[in-house]
Amino acid sequence: MLHKGSSIVFFSLLISSFLAPTHGKKQTEALGHLYKAKQTKNSAIDTSGFEAIRLVNRVEILPQEGLKERDRIEKLPGQPNVEFSQYGGYVTVNESSGKAFYYYFVEAQKSHHSLPLLLWLNGGPGCSSLAYGAMQELGPFRVHSDGKTLYKNRFAWNYAANVLFLESPAGVGFSYSNTTSDFKKGGDKQTASDNYVFLLNWLERFPEYKNRDFYISGESYAGHYVPQLAHIILRHNKKAKKTLVNLKGIIIGNAVINDETDNLGMYDYFASHALISDKTWYEIKEHCDFGTLSSNECKVLTAEADNDLDNIDIYNIYAPLCYDNNLTKKPKKTSVLNFDPCSDNYVYAYLNTPEVQKALHANVTKISYDWEPCSDVIEQWEDSPSTIIPLLQEFMEHGLRVWIFSGDIDGRVPVTSTKYSINKMKLPVKTAWHSWMLNEEVGGYTEVYKGDLTFATVRGAGHQVPSYQPPRALSLIKHFLAGTPLPNDSRRAY
Ligand SMILES: *[C@@H]1O[C@H](CO)[C@@H](O)[C@H](O)[C@H]1NC(C)=O
Ligand SMILES: *[C@@H]1O[C@H](CO)[C@@H](O)[C@H](O)[C@H]1NC(C)=O
Ligand SMILES: *[C@@H]1O[C@H](CO)[C@@H](O)[C@H](O)[C@H]1NC(C)=O
Ligand SMILES: *[C@@H]1O[C@H](CO)[C@@H](O)[C@H](O)[C@H]1NC(C)=O
Ligand SMILES: *[C@@H]1O[C@H](CO)[C@@H](O)[C@H](O)[C@H]1NC(C)=O
Repeated sequence: MLHKGSSIVFFSLLISSFLAPTHGKKQTEALGHLYKAKQTKNSAIDTSGFEAIRLVNRVEILPQEGLKERDRIEKLPGQPNVEFSQYGGYVTVNESSGKAFYYYFVEAQKSHHSLPLLLWLNGGPGCSSLAYGAMQELGPFRVHSDGKTLYKNRFAWNYAANVLFLESPAGVGFSYSNTTSDFKKGGDKQTASDNYVFLLNWLERFPEYKNRDFYISGESYAGHYVPQLAHIILRHNKKAKKTLVNLKGIIIGNAVINDETDNLGMYDYFASHALISDKTWYEIKEHCDFGTLSSNECKVLTAEADNDLDNIDIYNIYAPLCYDNNLTKKPKKTSVLNFDPCSDNYVYAYLNTPEVQKALHANVTKISYDWEPCSDVIEQWEDSPSTIIPLLQEFMEHGLRVWIFSGDIDGRVPVTSTKYSINKMKLPVKTAWHSWMLNEEVGGYTEVYKGDLTFATVRGAGHQVPSYQPPRALSLIKHFLAGTPLPNDSRRAY
């Protein structure tokens, strides 16, 4: 059943006022908004199980000749020299409504003819994969504090794959719709089917990737997007009786998986990390239904807990905060290994620069609002299943590789939540819990389950894992793509 007319209620709980950016929303708020909206009594958001919109035979694949070369990015303003190719541009996902998705694609640093294709999705809902994935996490460049120049990320994931960043759904970043009512009827289903139409058209534009091994990755609310897109791909391959998209596996990090265990694990994490009192935690356990957190009693208690979290960044409970939103005239000294908490501001300035947009082939239709890290224009979210576990089970039955990772100092979708969600599946253990190594240090812990689901923590990483632990994140993705277990011995590490 699809309920109409629900709106995302904008609460700014769970984020510090110090974090309030000078411009629109950031990722650290977007997920909170949806959770709060789902938690209102009589929420009109449809939380029933995910079912793909029927669109078999209706996927419009438009002619794409010549568009790949048109999309080639010569050089981004302020960019250091690199050897790999970059592309950026629009793919129409619905001609009649005038909906087009923006993508940024970086070929692998080496061996791009043989390495797999990896799609990266950020969450929100409403947050941009360009803002986070490409420019602050796993992309080849980071933006300097001058908002004008770029520096290299030597742990970029295009050392392991050809990486495609997609801004989705319409209204996120540079992705738009000419039918503004589209912003009022978004949701998981629409996003998944639009992502699928994007992908088929993109592969038509880049035909050399059509048969390439394909993987989907993402974090946070992409815990919904990634499995939902994978589900649609499997369905369509089956229906067509051929491999339309050569999907081999999915990997999700600090991912929204199962509302009940996600909520329980979050407050458990707050208590076990000495952020809230034992008394508050005890009362929350006593009075809250973790599926919804919707009773008035529970609301009072969770609001109390939220108060204790003012002034820390719950997306990395040990991170410094950004106290100065100004750009600097000269770039501050940077290190990819030391994430700058003000990075959102630099990326915002960079991507709103007209010459940068021109180089990216973005905003060609003169969109009426600015580029934001998380959308200000998406007004409603109609459906968001309370769990995506059935999709994970489906993938394991189909022999897809499924990896779930977790930065272990994130408080928003913490490692406790992820463990409880995995435990719900009651999977037999294949390789018992052990530490995994990189450079003679523990990179994290891992356990592999029968059915081939790998769980891995990334030690010392917040919600945006590659921002905080770039070498560990790169090692993780290399092992995922190679299908090799994370090593318990440094000598076997990449
Ligand atoms: C494309 O947009 C039109 C007009 O908004 C809508 O009726 C149609 O269902 C959309 N097609 C798909 C495949 O979403
Ligand atoms: C949206 O409208 C603009 C201006 O009319 C047009 O140039 C563009 O092609 C339209 N986008 C799509 C995807 O049809
Ligand atoms: C940022 O710039 C504004 C305007 O120039 C200035 O008033 C403010 O003091 C600056 N903030 C900091 C923390 O330097
Ligand atoms: C698109 O360009 C116009 C100016 O041409 C600018 O005002 C607007 O902020 C830009 N929007 C985005 C999403 O980049
Ligand atoms: C490393 O892990 C493998 C696979 O679980 C196991 O067989 C092996 O004994 C472990 N080695 C050490 C030194 O712990």
